[in-house]
Amino acid sequence: MYDYKELWKIKIASALNAVLGEAGIDESVAAEQVIAETPPNPEMGDIGFPMFSYAKIMRKGPPQIAQIAASKLAQSPDSEKLGTVEAQGPYLNVRLNRACAAKAVLDEVFLKNNGDFSFARPGTLAGQKVMVEFSSPNTNKPLHLGHLRNDALGESVSRILAACGAQVRKVCIINDRGVHICKSMLAYKEQGQGKTPETEGIKSDRFVGDWYVNFSKALKTEVDELTANGMKKEDAEAQSPLMKKAQEMLRKWEAGDGETVELWKKMNGWAIEGMKKTYNRTGVTFDRFDFESENYMLGKDEVLKGLERGIFYRQEDGAIAVDLSAEKLDKKILLRSDGTSIYITQDFGTAIKRHNEWQFDRLIYVVGSEQQYHFKVLFILLDKLGYPWAKDLYHLSYGMVNLPEGKMKSREGTVVDADDLLDSLRDMALAEIREKEREEEVGNPVEVAEKIALGALHYFLLQPSPGKDMLFDPKESLSFNGNTGPYLQYMGARISSMLRKAGQNVSSAPGNADFSMLVTDPEWDLIKSLAAYPAAICESAANLDPSHLTGYLYELSKCFSRFYHECPILNCADPALSKARLELSRAVMLVLKDAFYLVCIPFLNVM
Ligand code: ARG
Repeated sequence: MYDYKELWKIKIASALNAVLGEAGIDESVAAEQVIAETPPNPEMGDIGFPMFSYAKIMRKGPPQIAQIAASKLAQSPDSEKLGTVEAQGPYLNVRLNRACAAKAVLDEVFLKNNGDFSFARPGTLAGQKVMVEFSSPNTNKPLHLGHLRNDALGESVSRILAACGAQVRKVCIINDRGVHICKSMLAYKEQGQGKTPETEGIKSDRFVGDWYVNFSKALKTEVDELTANGMKKEDAEAQSPLMKKAQEMLRKWEAGDGETVELWKKMNGWAIEGMKKTYNRTGVTFDRFDFESENYMLGKDEVLKGLERGIFYRQEDGAIAVDLSAEKLDKKILLRSDGTSIYITQDFGTAIKRHNEWQFDRLIYVVGSEQQYHFKVLFILLDKLGYPWAKDLYHLSYGMVNLPEGKMKSREGTVVDADDLLDSLRDMALAEIREKEREEEVGNPVEVAEKIALGALHYFLLQPSPGKDMLFDPKESLSFNGNTGPYLQYMGARISSMLRKAGQNVSSAPGNADFSMLVTDPEWDLIKSLAAYPAAICESAANLDPSHLTGYLYELSKCFSRFYHECPILNCADPALSKARLELSRAVMLVLKDAFYLVCIPFLNVM
């Protein structure tokens, strides 16, 4: 990417080095060390370089250094092309040559733009192998709103890392065994009467989830009865006949009991088939699925090995545990007293298997913040077990997502199914299209509404930093004016309709536009914003946080909006300027499209 900041850092460093050389001081300044800032007031210039840090080695005051360096730079031959520099107090302020920068930036945007958009691919992670685990559902109920945040984050981070040159492998662990899975199995077994998703006309993952809800209700009745008779709630839960049956089913399952395994296969098949439809809908894909049922035995072996080596110990009740008080953590059970494995057990097996099959440099687990303790323990234990790559594991923890009070109650009254939420967003977007009487214009209103829904959802979910809890407001997310996905989509659609109006193929090359004509303030701000795109990608990649990109997109759109209002494009009297502005708009559209992909927002040519 044409990076004027970098170019100027090199120039500033060499000017400072010349000054140092002349003074006979045996020190030097590296370009990477030069600090660049944005002056508080645009009147002062485009980039500001503070001179404070050189005072000591130069034995001079910062304003004096700025003066000398400025006069050195004034003599350099390419100054005119790059811009002018002025000493202002302790700062060297640079005013870029707008015409030259505009040309350089836009030439680069259009360079080799055969779909790969190489100008915005920083390549900082080239050669790195990064595995990203995300979504990771349980097979007892459908995906919910929390998964939608997880999915958006995992998919977006994966795309961003790949944009920086990393080789990314997206994986999903399906937690398909355990007592919670047995709960829906048990309810179905006892009351299902051979019903299937087909006979009931219900999406198959929801069908399974409904049995889980049934179980929970029945369990509650039992527990209420027991507590009414004076039992403590915890004991009542453990003692209730239903809970005992579920536990018994788990033991049967782990022992490979034929009938139980058959039922498990059938119900898991339904759950997974339904979830895959939802992934398909939201544009989430995986390179590989792991299954807890396939890895837990390996995890068990690992726990037993740790026991032999004295890393873990056996409790009086027979359970295997580890004492982490030296790490300022609690004691943790790793295998139950009846020998059945628990949630963390399989994670040993899964991690080891993953590393054996694909030696990653980093494995990022995108999982909710309520599991921080779990991952802390997991990483410490893998390290204790002697896996050197334990240090390359990272928990990308994200906060809770809630709906405003009173909106969209789920069947259980707490979480909202992903499908329901997507449906209602789509219906709201569709109603808006109809209200504006744009059905004909957009071609396929339902398809467009679905894409608007996804844009609204993903942008809203990715906007706060991952660690923060958030409130998802469906109505606000869909608003066309404001900091929303649809606002950005609208910006893209507006440009593409402008290009069509100008009789141009939306994806054709810019031809010979004279970009050096684009020197007014709104044009210049827009060009600077375009030039900042690769840095926004790097920032998101470095922090594993797509919100830098969503923020960038909003800034870019605001700059475009101002340009659009202040600079006539198709109506511009000067045909050459009109052409240059049209192509500037096209460049914005290309960057929008590219960045949309990174934050999972569908691009629309009409809306
Ligand atoms: N299925 C788990 C849950 O719903 C999340 C799995 C996270 N990944 C892992 N490797 N433990 O809580």
